[in-house]
Amino acid sequence: MTYLWLKAGHIIFVIFWMAGLFMLPRYFVYHQEAAPGSPEEAQWIDRERKLLKIILNPSIVVVWVLGLLLAWNIGAFSQGWFHFKLLLVLLLSAYHGYMAAYAKKLARGERGMSGKQLRLINEVPGIAAALIVVLVVLKPF
Ligand code: HEM
Repeated sequence: MTYLWLKAGHIIFVIFWMAGLFMLPRYFVYHQEAAPGSPEEAQWIDRERKLLKIILNPSIVVVWVLGLLLAWNIGAFSQGWFHFKLLLVLLLSAYHGYMAAYAKKLARGERGMSGKQLRLINEVPGIAAALIVVLVVLKPF
């Protein structure tokens, strides 16, 4: 039963993490449509900070801790599907870090990416999540 509770917790926080990763670039798009220095911009800075602090950062930690506990439980470290999953999750974690850094830059008024680029980069977590779920459910190799 413990293993199943671990897995349930893992999937619940995966959902929170993915939700946050989908929302943040969207926030950036609307943020960048606001006039620099306006009250509306200040509101987006506050929303982005809260999304990172309350949802994204706690979720990535819990997903990793429960995921590694699951992996340890089933000896996944020697299995091919898990190696590929780990690579994709490391890329997703790097994406998380890049978005968190972009939020800081945006709060300083640095608008490095266009709205179009932000919409495009928002595809990354979707593609990664689809590949990860196929790997872990089917374990093809
Ligand atoms: C952060 C590092 C992660 C590690 C170390 C990890 C590891 C694992 C392990 C070992 C299992 C158990 C597999 C089994 O019982 O058959 C598992 C289950 C699962 N993981 Fe992860 N995972 C991570 C992140 C993610 C992410 C980012 C997603 C989705 C985007 C995800 C989706 C799932 C799903 C859907 C299951 C349930 C699979 C099943 O019951 O067949 N995991 N994970």
